[in-house]
Amino acid sequence: KVSINILDEIEKMIGVGVSTGEIDDLVVKITKEAGGVAADLGYEGFPKSCCTSINDVICHGIPNYNEKLKDGDIVNVDITTIINGYYSDMSRMFMIGNVSDEARKLCEVTKECMLEGIKSVKPYTPVGNIGNVINDIADKNGYSVVRALCGHGVGLKFHNDPMVNHFRTNRKTLGNSALKTGAITSETEIQITGVAYTYTDSSPKTIYPMINAGSYDCTIDEDDGWTVRTIDGSLSAQWEHTVVVTEDGIEILTL
Ligand code: CO
Repeated sequence: KVSINILDEIEKMIGVGVSTGEIDDLVVKITKEAGGVAADLGYEGFPKSCCTSINDVICHGIPNYNEKLKDGDIVNVDITTIINGYYSDMSRMFMIGNVSDEARKLCEVTKECMLEGIKSVKPYTPVGNIGNVINDIADKNGYSVVRALCGHGVGLKFHNDPMVNHFRTNRKTLGNSALKTGAITSETEIQITGVAYTYTDSSPKTIYPMINAGSYDCTIDEDDGWTVRTIDGSLSAQWEHTVVVTEDGIEILTL
């Protein structure tokens, strides 16, 4: 709920001329008022409390006062709040001013990818189904799905099993972890190439397809070591929710 509130407030202030540094200030303020802290801050040395990823930046853009949003930009704001030891992870796209039809479509299709991916989540089914559904929609629209980064379990830790790939894979090692319902500390059995492993599962999962208008390949900026960009400079979009697998299907916690 705190993360939802942060993104709702960002929606009200974001626009042409607003810097990504000011967006981060708002994240810090609301998170602090709620008695929380952002998981991003200090994570592996990350210097800010959210990620702001503009146009060809796929994810992990670092907020900066010198970076002002321009008419026609599309930007992902990724929020990770910790309250009383519980982590959430969510993001939305924002369209700044008059965006091109092409950019708007990418944002809309990526949201559809996320929602359909989430709808495909059923208990005791392979986690790989999510990527199959998302990749089909991306293919139909001539887009690609980023492969180098994935969704993940989230809850009492920032990143946990299972790894949630957003691309199609027929590899059992990537696709055959079965989604299990239950509490944060439940034990989950997964089948990997015929061997049963047991691990402590943080039941909530975060699903965040990163969809590119061009190639799925990416690079990381050398000067900051974080900013992930499309290799061909094409636009990229991402939408993200944290969900819990239930006996009936799923519950979206960040809606
Ligand atoms: Co995440």
